[in-house]
This record gives sequence, C-alpha cells and structure tokens, in this order.
Amino acid sequence: MRVLILGGDGYLGWPTAMELQRSGHDVCVVDNYLRRKIAQATDSEALMDNPRLPERTEIFAAKTNMKILYEEGDCCDFDFLNGVFERFGPDAVVHYAEQPSAPYSMIGFHEARLTLTNNLNSTFALIWAVLKQNRNCHIIKLGTMGEYGTPNIDIEEGWIEINHKGRSERFLYPRQAGSLYHTTKVLDTDLLWFYVRTYGIQVTDLMQGPVYGLSTDSADLDVRLAPNFHYDDIFGTVVNRFLVQAVAGIPLTVYGRGGQVRGYLNLRDTIRCIELAVENPAKKGELRILNQFTETFSVNQLAERVQRVGRGLGLDVNIQHVDNPRKEMEEHYYNPVRHGLLDLGLKPHFMTDEVLAVMIEKILQYRERIVPSRILPRVRWK
Ligand SMILES: NC(=O)c1ccc[n+]([C@@H]2O[C@H](COP(=O)([O-])OP(=O)(O)OC[C@H]3O[C@@H](n4cnc5c(N)ncnc54)[C@H](O)[C@@H]3O)[C@@H](O)[C@H]2O)c1
Repeated sequence: MRVLILGGDGYLGWPTAMELQRSGHDVCVVDNYLRRKIAQATDSEALMDNPRLPERTEIFAAKTNMKILYEEGDCCDFDFLNGVFERFGPDAVVHYAEQPSAPYSMIGFHEARLTLTNNLNSTFALIWAVLKQNRNCHIIKLGTMGEYGTPNIDIEEGWIEINHKGRSERFLYPRQAGSLYHTTKVLDTDLLWFYVRTYGIQVTDLMQGPVYGLSTDSADLDVRLAPNFHYDDIFGTVVNRFLVQAVAGIPLTVYGRGGQVRGYLNLRDTIRCIELAVENPAKKGELRILNQFTETFSVNQLAERVQRVGRGLGLDVNIQHVDNPRKEMEEHYYNPVRHGLLDLGLKPHFMTDEVLAVMIEKILQYRERIVPSRILPRVRWK
C-alpha cells in the first residue's frame, strides 16, 4: 500500500516509516520540524543527534536499498497537504503530526494556542485532503488514552452503550482530559466522528498510552537512524525519563504519591499496531477506536522496576517523590479494555527487566550528553 506518514520526523513517525517501508509498503513522510523547534526553544533537545529527513532517508537508502520519500512542510496548510496527496496518492495516512507535549500545552497562552491550532488544523486539513482527493483513503489518527482521563468506571474501547429512561444508544465514551494537549485530542476525535458520519470516510483512532523504547530492527542498523529520544520534563515519556535519570544518578522523579496508573507500550508495538491498522482498514463510514497499550503500571511500580534493574547493573538508583506539577488523581480506579489490537494479531513485547536493562546499556553510551537541568518539572498546572 501507499502510506503517507504525517509527522514522519518524530519519535514514532520515523521508526514507523522505516518498518513499513521494509515490510513492503511505499512510504512518504511529511514534517515541518515543529518538534525540533519547540525542543530548541524550551531547552529540551533529544539525547542523541538525529539528522533531518533528507539525510535520514539517504542513510536508510544506503543501508537497505529502499527509498522513503519525504516532503517538508506544514500539514495545517491545506494547499501543501492537498499537493502531497496529488503527488503521492496514498491508500492510507498515519497522522502523527501534532504537538504532543502536555506540559508544553500548559506553559501559557501562546503555547496553548499553538497546540490547539496546530493539532486541530492538521487534522482538519487532512480530512479535507481525503474528501477532495480520495474518500477511500483510510485515516489512522493517533489519539491518546489520556482522552478518557481516570473515570471511576471501566474504560471501554471508544464507545459506550447508554440506557436512559428505557431507551438505548451507542455514544462515544465520555472523555475528560487532564491537559490542553489531551483536550485537543478529544476535539480531534469529535471532528473525525462528524466527518465519518456525515461523509462516510473511514477512520481508525488509536487511543495510545505512553510509549517507551529506542530500539527497532531498522533503528538498530545505524545510530543515525535512531528515534528522537527525549528525557526532559516536556517531551520525555515517563519510562524513558526514569531510565535516563537512573543512568545520570539523579533520583527518579515520581510526581506526588505515584499511584497514577496508565497503560504503556513498547515502541516496537506502536509500529506493529500501525501496521495492523494499515493492513486491516476501518470500514467505510466507520470510526474505529482501539485502545493501544499492552500493560498498565502505576508510576511507583515503574520507578521500583527501574530502580531494581539499574541497581542490578551497578547504578546508584534512588526514588524521590516530588511535588506534583500536574492536576491529576494520585490514587484512582483504572480498568481500560484492550481487545481490538489483540484481535487483529498484536503480540505484545512486555516490559521485562531484560528490556529495561538493554535500554539502560544503550543510554549509558550517551551518559555525557545528559543535561540534568532538563529533568525536574519546569511547568506547573496552575
Ligand atoms: N510518544 C507517545 O508516548 C505518545 C503517546 C500517545 C499519543 N502520541 C501521539 O502520537 C503522535 C506522535 O507522537 P511522537 O511522540 O512521535 O511526537 P513527535 O513530536 O516526536 O512527532 C510528531 C511530529 O509531527 C511533526 N509535526 C507537528 N505538527 C506538524 C505540522 N503541522 N506539520 C508537519 N509536521 C508536524 C513534528 O515536527 C514531529 O516531528 C502525536 O500525535 C502524539 O500526540 C504519542
């Protein structure tokens, strides 16, 4: 299939592009380097140097003899995106091109507005490119488990049957996001649902949990093909951050009491989920919602695991509870359903001690590059 990846320079986008190309699809990636610009502006650069798309695609071609096409531009710009559709003619589009940091979206007005306009407008331009060019093109949109929040009832897979005064109807599962970033994802889902039910387009919305990992078959071919690996408070996801803190000898920063439970998944599983969604499209007129995580952990459990594995490797790893910069429940019920991707054939890579140890060993090679001032929370929800 011809697969267009929006946000193809990102932490998830670039490794996805390489694996899809190697599994036989034709891939084109699009990016405007928004993530790199924000990382530079907030002193949150990645642990390793990651070349931009022209160089990355060259290195990939030299290693594999395969060509990933790329376009540099803003997905919010409808004329640009429509032109990409005309030139490439995708069968499926993977939409990663959003501002993904909750803390960044909570810094102030300008950062919140950038997050809101960028995330909604990139989704909106994509919907219209599909409407104009090919209504059979399958949109695979990255949402987040954070859209649901932490309700005191089980979290279903996107939809819930409501019985009310003797009648019943299936609705989108209620969403109560905990940051402006997560709220833009809720708004994206509503936007997509409107266009699905009105125009019959086909959409998969993936409610993804925080991803960890820096290794994939293609990323391991050459260090310059590695994903953008962030460990700061703005872009770093919690497992990646804890592993870097363990290596740097900085106590693991558990926010508040640490009873916050979330669903996590390995980078390799994110890619496999995308591949499964591409190869098993949603039906016409369907908004298919899949919960994309493989295991749930509390922050305390993650910290204890990283501490145990780090100490096993001879590192001095301690845990420190810091004042929670976020507004969130620190102890709560959490029981989300996750059948859809397993039914499609996902075979999870679980977070074993060995997986964490391999990551720590890789990070140790970059120990000198860790900047400690990027680790403690710099943004508060107030
Ligand atoms: N990483 C995670 O743990 C995680 C978890 C849940 C959901 N997600 C979602 O998955 C997607 C990818 O996440 P990521 O961690 O790879 O983030 P990322 O920031 O590394 O990747 C997103 C990419 O999109 C690009 N981009 C943003 N706006 C753009 C625009 N208007 N035009 C062109 N390019 C644009 C950025 O430059 C960046 O390279 C995001 O939508 C994010 O919300 C990520």
